Amino acid sequence: MVSRLILCSSRGQKRNVFQPYFQNTQRHHELSTKPFSHRSFSNSNPRRLAASSVRTYSSSRGGVILDSLPRTAKIVEVGPRDGLQNEKQLVPTVTKLELINRLAQSGLSVIEATSFVSPKWVPQMGDHREIITSLDLNGPLNYPVLTPNVMGYKAAVAAGAKEVAIFSAASEGFVKRNINASIDESLKRFEEVCNSAKQDGVLVRGYVSCVIECPYDGKSDPEVVRWVSERLLEMGCYEVSLGDTIGVGTPPTFITMLEEVLTTVPVDKVAVHCHDTYGQALANIFASLQLGVNVIDSSVAGLGGCPFAAGASGNVATEDVLYMLDGLGIETGVDLDAVVDAGRFISNALGRPIAARAANAVLAKRARESEKLQKAKAETA
Ligand code: HMG
Ligand code: MG
Repeated sequence: MVSRLILCSSRGQKRNVFQPYFQNTQRHHELSTKPFSHRSFSNSNPRRLAASSVRTYSSSRGGVILDSLPRTAKIVEVGPRDGLQNEKQLVPTVTKLELINRLAQSGLSVIEATSFVSPKWVPQMGDHREIITSLDLNGPLNYPVLTPNVMGYKAAVAAGAKEVAIFSAASEGFVKRNINASIDESLKRFEEVCNSAKQDGVLVRGYVSCVIECPYDGKSDPEVVRWVSERLLEMGCYEVSLGDTIGVGTPPTFITMLEEVLTTVPVDKVAVHCHDTYGQALANIFASLQLGVNVIDSSVAGLGGCPFAAGASGNVATEDVLYMLDGLGIETGVDLDAVVDAGRFISNALGRPIAARAANAVLAKRARESEKLQKAKAETA
């Protein structure tokens, strides 16, 4: 029988984590009936006020919403790990390394490289040691790797990893299918990982999966998302990435979840990780930016999915995120053209079309321009 976890919320109320989502949530009712502008700029959330203090209101970008957005954002590229882990055919190690090296040329500062998970569970990540030992781990780029337990952590650090990522979820069903543990057991395991990491000077990033909905348990409770996030930060994660693992969130559900998390978790410790199953990822990222979140996980060419979350499609494409952020005047330091080239490389290698609309648009534009140039050359010859 699944044990029932009772949480004590920051407001001192006991709450059963299996309580249906939105039950008794007056706030959700208000969110779903008020016009958007009333919600996004209400001053009821002290965390949001703190976050907004780093923003400018000079109206230099064309209006209150745009002016309130962060000026910079960090992209965490998860393509080589999240993007490839779900591939049925083993991708040659040399292809993975070529992808990582091409991405590394684009100005990205973080590339999640691989997972030190069981190769019986995820065969595609079985070459983790070869991957990590082939990378320049002393350079400016961070190459975090997923570690599901101390065994994976030790193997990762022995191979030279300087940053690991641990991963729990807001639903019991997913944690069980993903790492064969309950939420509580997963947190105990990760506490051991964090204790070792502290001694070794290794950075730890945390994931909370199924922040909106779980493929096994249904809707997730935002208070559980917040609770798991708090635990991961308490044990030593420098940041928690909130995963819409099956990509079902829409701006209202995403905002409701984030507002709950941000009641106790500082906005500068939050990242968002949106799979794009229903095409809502960019809208959810835009909503997150309005709440001050400026760390975004994404996957080159929109690759990806989770082997333990049926129906989950790839992460939001890095190219699409970069195009939107550039349009919003948010600096990332990442060169869209270089990511487009990396995405074309891996999509060709996998023999499939590029699942990034911005990349296809850039490539089509390049083809048109090159045709024009050829024509002009032919005419002058
Ligand atoms: P288990 O079967 O319960 O493990 O799996 P166990 O402790 O009973 O050990 C069984 C065997 O696995 C033993 O080997 C261990 O040595 C070995 P045997 O004696 O049978 O030969 N083992 C390992 N081998 C290599 N590396 C390890 C390791 N640990 C044990 N680290 C386990 C538990 C956690 C290992 C397994 O469930 C697992 O590897 N799960 C991986 C799940 C995974 O990678 N999921 C995808 C990533 S998460 C994700 O995509 C979501 C995310 O993107 C965010 C989002 O989208 O929401 C992050
Ligand atoms: Mg994912």
